[in-house]
Amino acid sequence: MTSEISLAGKCIIVTGASRGIGEEIAVAASRAGASVVLASRRQEGLDVVAERIAEAGGKARAVACHVGKPAEVAALFAAAREAFGPVHGLVNNAATNPYFGPLLGIEEAAFDKTIEVNLKGPMTAIQAFVEQPAPPGAAVVNIASIAGIQAAPLQGVYGMTKAALISMTKTLAHELGPAGIRVNAIAPGLVETRFAATIVESDELRDHVVSRTALGRHAQPDEIAGAAVYLLSEAASYVTGQTIVIDGGTITS
Ligand SMILES: NC(=O)c1ccc[n+]([C@@H]2O[C@H](COP(=O)([O-])OP(=O)(O)OC[C@H]3O[C@@H](n4cnc5c(N)ncnc54)[C@H](OP(=O)(O)O)[C@@H]3O)[C@@H](O)[C@H]2O)c1
Repeated sequence: MTSEISLAGKCIIVTGASRGIGEEIAVAASRAGASVVLASRRQEGLDVVAERIAEAGGKARAVACHVGKPAEVAALFAAAREAFGPVHGLVNNAATNPYFGPLLGIEEAAFDKTIEVNLKGPMTAIQAFVEQPAPPGAAVVNIASIAGIQAAPLQGVYGMTKAALISMTKTLAHELGPAGIRVNAIAPGLVETRFAATIVESDELRDHVVSRTALGRHAQPDEIAGAAVYLLSEAASYVTGQTIVIDGGTITS
């Protein structure tokens, strides 16, 4: 056991690592000593992040993978093991939100896609992570959202998937705890990424969200990364089943 926040000697997979929060988690994990495997659908974006990490002296491998396709997730784990050996940490960060509007107005295709990427993806990846088998010190971090904790007007189905991800986190912490695998989540508030552009770029929507935060601003992606590195590290060896909320102190009622 250690209080040091280090990922030295560990291999960490980060999904959705080609930009935004996932990119910053991958960079921070590399700085903490990990070899990182970057996954998302498009190879080009991943290659740029892999180069950023290599230029800073880190080790990264970029693997194109749609997290909703189980065969691609299996291939991702095979590529990670071939590159760096057993996978110690998994960050389920990739997600989608194809629909912005009243919950009941969503069309079937958008509903199915949201479930496939935001729920089936993380679950399939955790299955592959456990089946390797996961080495000692193994940890999963699921990137949820405060939309999964409070009402999520205009993002209802997305919020439902994030609530389910938090539920999955708690249940798997219990089911995998005896095998020494920790499972935690992070629930960010509004973060300036392409994903949140609809809100960040609208003065009305952004000001509404920001006015409810104690810090009076939204977050930058690297402000989420430190918690992920902590949860992946041995410094968090007695932390499991938890959701760390990083939302600038948002008033929820
Ligand atoms: N930004 C916010 O305000 C905010 C707030 C709370 C929670 N979050 C959560 O934070 C996480 C990261 O979001 P972000 O804001 O950083 O978004 P982002 O900048 O748009 O990045 C999303 C990443 O996910 C990848 N991705 C999308 N669909 C994928 C799929 N089917 N398979 C594999 N990768 C896929 C994208 O790459 P490709 O296009 O190459 O696939 C990209 O790397 C998400 O779980 C999101 O729900 C964000």
